[in-house]
Amino acid sequence: MRVDIISIFPEYFAPLDLSLIGKARSTGLLSVDVHDLRTWTSDVHRTVDDTPYGGGPGMVMRPEPWGQALDAVGPGTLVVPSPVGKPFTQADAYELAAVDHLIFACGRYEGIDQRVIDDAAARMPVREISLGDYVLFGGEVAVIVIMEAVTRLLPGVLGNASSLDEESHSAGLLEAPVYTKPASWRDREVPDVLRSGDHGRIARWRRTQSLLRTAARRPDMMASYPPELLDKSDRAA
Ligand code: ADE
Repeated sequence: MRVDIISIFPEYFAPLDLSLIGKARSTGLLSVDVHDLRTWTSDVHRTVDDTPYGGGPGMVMRPEPWGQALDAVGPGTLVVPSPVGKPFTQADAYELAAVDHLIFACGRYEGIDQRVIDDAAARMPVREISLGDYVLFGGEVAVIVIMEAVTRLLPGVLGNASSLDEESHSAGLLEAPVYTKPASWRDREVPDVLRSGDHGRIARWRRTQSLLRTAARRPDMMASYPPELLDKSDRAA
């Protein structure tokens, strides 16, 4: 997968050199190029923003540098992190992981002139994505979040791809609690069933914990869980 990131703060993306994203880059599964939006300015002050038409607080990103930047790195699937975007889900991460070329446009201030998004949409798929119902300073941190969610789904990135099958948000339920050694710690014991070696009982216990957790923490997820996927023991739980 090829990724281009356009931002006025290229330094924000240092974490993409680390850990499994860094490894995916060095093994060639992923290429990431970070571009400074100011490369595509032509005035001495390298201006990227101006006051909003219609008045109001803050500044808006001017269209010209964005237009040139997207002409230079595109076409591809354009992702614009924004608090007015569609809420990001695991399903979106899977869809983006299937794309060959992603372009991230990081807005700052009050956002990017709308014509940039409309103009790009005439030439390439555009997705405005929100991380949640809160406002960040800009799209940079959102890009790192989306890149983590997407990169771990690329074939060959996770050592054990079966860990994707049962994780939270893949099966429509939250995952059960997890434990490791020691079996006893500060007088707290690992649940006996997990040490029983009985794989059937362990699977049943995990399933029950998963349902209880989801019902308690995410009633919205529980409500949209397909009822035909609930068996008799699930209902008893
Ligand atoms: N930029 C500013 N706020 C954001 C949010 N909530 N999600 C994605 N990008 C943003």
